[in-house]
Amino acid sequence: MARYVINGGNRLEGNIRIKGAKNSALALLSASILTQESVVLRDCPDISDIGNMLSILGGLGCKCSFDCGTITVDSSTLDGAEIENNTAKKIRSSVFLLGAMLSRCKKAKIAYPGGCNIGLRPIDIHIDGLRKLGVEIVETQDALECDATHAHSAYMRLKIPSVGATENLIMASVFLHGKTVIDNCAREPEIVDLQNMLVAMGAKVSGVEDGRAVIEGVESLHGVDYTVLPDRIVAGTYLIAAAMCQGEITLENVRRRHLEALTAKLADNTCNITYKDDRITLYSNGVSTNPPLLSTGYYPDFPTDLQSQFLAMMTIGKGKCVIEENLFEDRFKAANELRLMGADIVVRGKRAFVNGVGRLNGTTVKACDLRGGAALVLAGLVARGTTIVEDIYHIDRGYEDMAPILRSLGADIKRI
Ligand code: EPZ
Repeated sequence: MARYVINGGNRLEGNIRIKGAKNSALALLSASILTQESVVLRDCPDISDIGNMLSILGGLGCKCSFDCGTITVDSSTLDGAEIENNTAKKIRSSVFLLGAMLSRCKKAKIAYPGGCNIGLRPIDIHIDGLRKLGVEIVETQDALECDATHAHSAYMRLKIPSVGATENLIMASVFLHGKTVIDNCAREPEIVDLQNMLVAMGAKVSGVEDGRAVIEGVESLHGVDYTVLPDRIVAGTYLIAAAMCQGEITLENVRRRHLEALTAKLADNTCNITYKDDRITLYSNGVSTNPPLLSTGYYPDFPTDLQSQFLAMMTIGKGKCVIEENLFEDRFKAANELRLMGADIVVRGKRAFVNGVGRLNGTTVKACDLRGGAALVLAGLVARGTTIVEDIYHIDRGYEDMAPILRSLGADIKRI
């Protein structure tokens, strides 16, 4: 199994370009089956979650190509509405296809989704919302069988602003005559990106940025050539790496607004952050002082997908920090591995109590989930000696070329 071998202690200097967001590209790929015309998605990251989604679409009869970041989907040959078990189990975003499949095929059967083991990750909000749209759903032992023959527009209010449920319900509504309103919907930039692409395809969708999606049904959608918005989580991961290693890095192709929850926390520390057009530069020349509290929340609050990486930074900062994970019930898996490196972390329920120890010691650790794995790499970059990160297939789900990118910034890391 592949692993990273990291020798810690190097500063990071240099420029990198951020590619399109995994969590947008996956939703846009689902939306690509809402038209029989060709859909072109540019600046897509070459990561395993995208590869799996392309194999799911291929399994449904779509013709997909992926070349130098550009994906083309031709779903005119789509001939299935069933997502088989093993692939669906690999990635959670297979459930995001449900809404689009119902809009396209009226019937759909999908296996219960897989994805990161960061919590139960139920899909009750997806199911409740689809039922409000008149979709008949039978839950069998390991799959959902859905029939949207009598689906209709509706008003609904989500009990929590679920990203996946919002995406599914918007895609399930685009052809429903009349007006569908999804109140308390998720407002993440990736969903605004989906809204923008759907509008470019001829849909009538608005209000996602305000947390109240309004969809007016249209007859059909046409093809589109669309560029995926930059990945704020990948960008945030490398900003935290630079804050930990010290040095000066510039990220190209970022959206300032999408990084504000993180940069507000980094600027508290010894980091100097500047912007120019679509570039952000972070300069760090000292060990940070830990903020007393970090609490994750729905956008625009601090993103749960950067929580593990921030936890790694707190282990070497000065002072104590309480990290509160409010979205997922089991997203502190990296803490056990960081403790092996000498970190002082106590996890109680949804809180991690961290006491900065100044430096970590290299050892062998295991990635347990996508973002927790990235956190271990960051810890290895600053630890004394050599750190080996195993099970890095978790990291491959969301980071393209992590080792070459970090090496280009001066890190001593290789994939073996
Ligand atoms: C999306 O997952 C992202 N994945 C996650 O990124 C991200 O962490 C999450 O949104 C929150 O921002 C993709 O976009 C592919 P949710 P999703 O539904 O849609 C509960 C990464 O690292 N919930 O917003 O699954 C759920 O248990 C991944 O890139 C229900 O209770 O997240 C969780 O506690 C990890 N019932 C909370 O809502 C439901 O029906 C937020 O989940 C659905 C969700």
